[in-house]
Amino acid sequence: MVILGVLASGSGTNLQSIIDAIESKKLSARINVVISDNPGAYALERAKRHGLKTEVVTKDEYPEKEAFDGKLVSILKENGVGLVILAGFMRLLSPLFVRAFPMKIMNIHPSLLPSFTGLDVQKKALDYGVKFSGCTVHFVDEGVDTGPIIIQAVLPVAANDTPETLKKRILGEEHRIYPQAIQLYSEGRLTVKGRRVTVKDGGGQEGTLENPPVCIFKDE
Ligand code: GRF
Repeated sequence: MVILGVLASGSGTNLQSIIDAIESKKLSARINVVISDNPGAYALERAKRHGLKTEVVTKDEYPEKEAFDGKLVSILKENGVGLVILAGFMRLLSPLFVRAFPMKIMNIHPSLLPSFTGLDVQKKALDYGVKFSGCTVHFVDEGVDTGPIIIQAVLPVAANDTPETLKKRILGEEHRIYPQAIQLYSEGRLTVKGRRVTVKDGGGQEGTLENPPVCIFKDE
């Protein structure tokens, strides 16, 4: 079973989807610590409600980037974390952090990478006029939203979509694919070679708009 440390700055709906998947035994993982840089993050409330350990590390306490990241790394290591989950964590990680957990950090991003990196990406996608958008779970490397892609889910953009409506629909997909990606990791089924992540026994891709097929959660 993989031991998770979750980093979140905001509302924590992705954290919630991971907690729910663990509690309903779809996801074989344990969350040993939830860390936030924002003392007011609702993600912390969600964690506490489920009896999870929480820590707050602020940039006021650790204004130097390296010291801030060093503190995060030490909390994660002390808590025996094997896989770091970024769930709406609003700070970029330094190379020091990334090198402490090589290919052991996952992030979820609300676009089909490599399109639309950074912030406000639902608006960027609409302004560009794409017909499909979606979300991406990827391993984290030293770039911004550039690491090897694990799962993407695709959805059509509606003519009357606003950034808010698109965000909401994408979030629904995020809540499905993030626990799936972690479960694949937990089962030891992910192999990274260069930029390519392969899924052992992942099944065929033809005719689907989601990879790998959603059936990895047996009762879906
Ligand atoms: C999500 O849109 C995720 O893709 C992005 O940050 C947001 C976090 O939302 N990385 P939540 O805090 O999980 O609700």
